[in-house]
Amino acid sequence: MLKYCAVLLLLGTCAEFASSNDARVVCYFSNWAIYRPGIGRYTIDDIPGDMCTHIIYSFIGVDNKTWEYLILDPEVDVEQNGFYNFTQLKSKYPHIKTEVAVGGWGEGGEKYSQLVSMKDRRDVFIRSVVEFMHKYEFDGFDLDWEYPGAADRGGSFSDKDKFLYFVEELRRAFDAENKGWEITMAVPLAKFRLNEGYHVPELCENLDAIHVMAYDLRGNWAGFADVHSPLYKRPHDQYAYEKLNVNDGLQLWVDFGCSPDKLVVGVPFYGRSFTLSQGNNNYGLGTYINKEAGGGEPAPYTQAKGFWAYYEICIELQKDNNGWEEKWDSAGYCPYAYKGTQWVGYENTTSLQVKMDWIKSKGYAGAMVWAIDMDDFQGECGPKNPLIKVLWESMKDYQVPKPTGTTTPRPEWARPPSTKPTVPSKVTRPTVQPTKKPITQKPLTQKPVTQKPVTQKPITQKPTPTTTTTTTTTTTSTTTEEPTASSSSSPEPEVPEEEVPDKEVPSEGGEENNEPAPEGEDDCPSESYKPHKECNKYYQCVYNKGVEFTCKPGTVWNQEKMICDWPANSQREECKN
Ligand SMILES: *[C@@H]1O[C@H](CO)[C@@H](O)[C@H](O)[C@H]1NC(C)=O
Ligand SMILES: *[C@@H]1O[C@H](CO)[C@@H](O)[C@H](O)[C@H]1NC(C)=O
Ligand SMILES: *[C@@H]1O[C@H](CO)[C@@H](O)[C@H](O)[C@H]1NC(C)=O
Repeated sequence: MLKYCAVLLLLGTCAEFASSNDARVVCYFSNWAIYRPGIGRYTIDDIPGDMCTHIIYSFIGVDNKTWEYLILDPEVDVEQNGFYNFTQLKSKYPHIKTEVAVGGWGEGGEKYSQLVSMKDRRDVFIRSVVEFMHKYEFDGFDLDWEYPGAADRGGSFSDKDKFLYFVEELRRAFDAENKGWEITMAVPLAKFRLNEGYHVPELCENLDAIHVMAYDLRGNWAGFADVHSPLYKRPHDQYAYEKLNVNDGLQLWVDFGCSPDKLVVGVPFYGRSFTLSQGNNNYGLGTYINKEAGGGEPAPYTQAKGFWAYYEICIELQKDNNGWEEKWDSAGYCPYAYKGTQWVGYENTTSLQVKMDWIKSKGYAGAMVWAIDMDDFQGECGPKNPLIKVLWESMKDYQVPKPTGTTTPRPEWARPPSTKPTVPSKVTRPTVQPTKKPITQKPLTQKPVTQKPVTQKPITQKPTPTTTTTTTTTTTSTTTEEPTASSSSSPEPEVPEEEVPDKEVPSEGGEENNEPAPEGEDDCPSESYKPHKECNKYYQCVYNKGVEFTCKPGTVWNQEKMICDWPANSQREECKN
């Protein structure tokens, strides 16, 4: 810091640079880790609060009847005092801020779209959150809606504006409480996701930090074996995957207008595993897999296909004569390992150190981890918590520089008008019903774009991995392993529900068939919709390419409102009945 300042002093910019902040080390905690068997069981007392600046309790949800917050595991969160024990870690670690996260992959996107769509609902939700914050003494609130505007997740076109209104309103409500509460947000890094759901500059201004989920960039859903958090583009990355790496993804947030000192880079404490095709002797990055297998075999503690905690990997690798071959992705800077048909890409202390050095070289705000409960917290492979130690040691003395440059000017037209500040008065219950019009969300038929990070539910105790024909559902999570409301309340051991790619779609890359986007096709600009010759169909423009959708039965496309609507409301005579 001093050194930089001295250099910059010569340039006369020291003053601007001088106000810098301590870096963040953000540790997500998944409350369902308590259900893991044996040495996998992770409780609030296991959290190494001395090596995190922020800890985040995951997750709470949204009640789609009252539009208040929803507690997903009442037994652990409330009856066993999970929330309160968590925030009281402050007495042990006075420097930490405690946050609660709302959303996550398992919660889906549809409810959140419905929530933000109406002011009354937002008001009710925000008021309930303020009560929640006071009640359990949290210091921050983390938004994990995956993702605004994502048609494949139940989102709709209007989410982008409405989500910003929601954030602005939440900010005002928190500021009015005068408690210094933070608001943060977990976000994807694929370009089409940013385009469809995020007013980047305005969100970054309103939020204290942006947690970029720079993992799950590859997985079983992609159809080939690869590491899932490559730092840079590798020679085999093509089309949709060219920019789907940590460095380019973070740069995208900057290019869209987010200040680097708000960007916290997420790293995974887990690997994505694969089952290779029988007889495939090519173990290189991008090799063929047996996609139907749904990932690598379930590991003993997390018990999900395709998903192995770091400690599950290190335990395997340290066994004598274990048969694993360990390799290094020399362009993406991540380790991977294979044995027989099993292949896993992950992070170890070496790859994390490379990422930490890179974060500092870029002036980003720090590091985030999903999730703290997957480090080697028992010390099975050496000293305890080796991974978080790398993050903490790298970040503890790092001061995040204030960006000196001006950000790209943003066109005024790109900014949606804000809602009026309302005095945080009595909030009325939502009386407004979705009106008589069918507020049909965009039909969620075939998704043009999907990414399917995946995952599993918490397996309540079940020491033996099951190999069953799993009834797969589309749970999953970017932030992996999702809890579900039902899982917590059911005492029965559950079959690991797995990742199921919705479709044959390649992945996060977003384009169908992995084709490069046709450039300059201006009759279908991104983020818009086009009518179809058939009344009940329409096109959504994805990367300038129209992707066909069908409205729910009984409705037709209304181009003016860009929704599926009653035939009577159609502008086209031939579609009115
Ligand atoms: C709330 O969500 C559940 C499940 O996601 C759904 O079955 C139910 O119809 C929804 N209720 C309302 C009032 O929308
Ligand atoms: C909260 O702390 C109490 C007292 O130490 C303990 O009995 C309880 O199990 C804890 N709850 C959770 C969810 O960790
Ligand atoms: C991380 O993995 C790579 C590839 O297997 C290996 O070369 C490196 O030594 C590992 N780092 C540590 C600290 O074990």
